[in-house]
Amino acid sequence: MAEDLTLTATTKAARYAELRPQIEALTTGEPDLTANLANTAAALKEAFGFFWVGFYLVKEDELVLGPFQGPVACTRIRRGRGVCGASWARAQTLLVPDVEQFPGHIACSSASKSEIVVPIIRGAGNVVAVLDVDSDKLNDFDADDQEALEALAPLVASWF
Ligand code: SME
Repeated sequence: MAEDLTLTATTKAARYAELRPQIEALTTGEPDLTANLANTAAALKEAFGFFWVGFYLVKEDELVLGPFQGPVACTRIRRGRGVCGASWARAQTLLVPDVEQFPGHIACSSASKSEIVVPIIRGAGNVVAVLDVDSDKLNDFDADDQEALEALAPLVASWF
């Protein structure tokens, strides 16, 4: 049975450091992908109050909405489309300080102003999902977010 998250650190990097073992504790020994993705999205939302945080899963030639926390979102995204589709196609993290400046950005919500998308990669460049975090503030993500979320990606990949 899971316990509540306990986060005391005040800096973002330190909160990520506190959160990591708690995500591991929540998911270790649990074989169900949906359960693990759902608790990870919830833990990130609870720790940082992100506007939207969730997963899109690669299904054939599209990304399909998976477990998330936040307002309703686009259900399907084509490869290469928007920030999520571009992160999938390039198999790399995209940190977008102003989504209006990103060519082809998909506005699921007009409140979303900046975002970071981290590909979940299994094996040699096989993207199985992306982790998408959106903010309602411009320029809300930095290298601390990128480093911590990229460090989380192999754990997430291990659930697939
Ligand atoms: N903004 C994303 C779409 C997904 S949502 O914002 C939840 C994109 O351009 O890929």
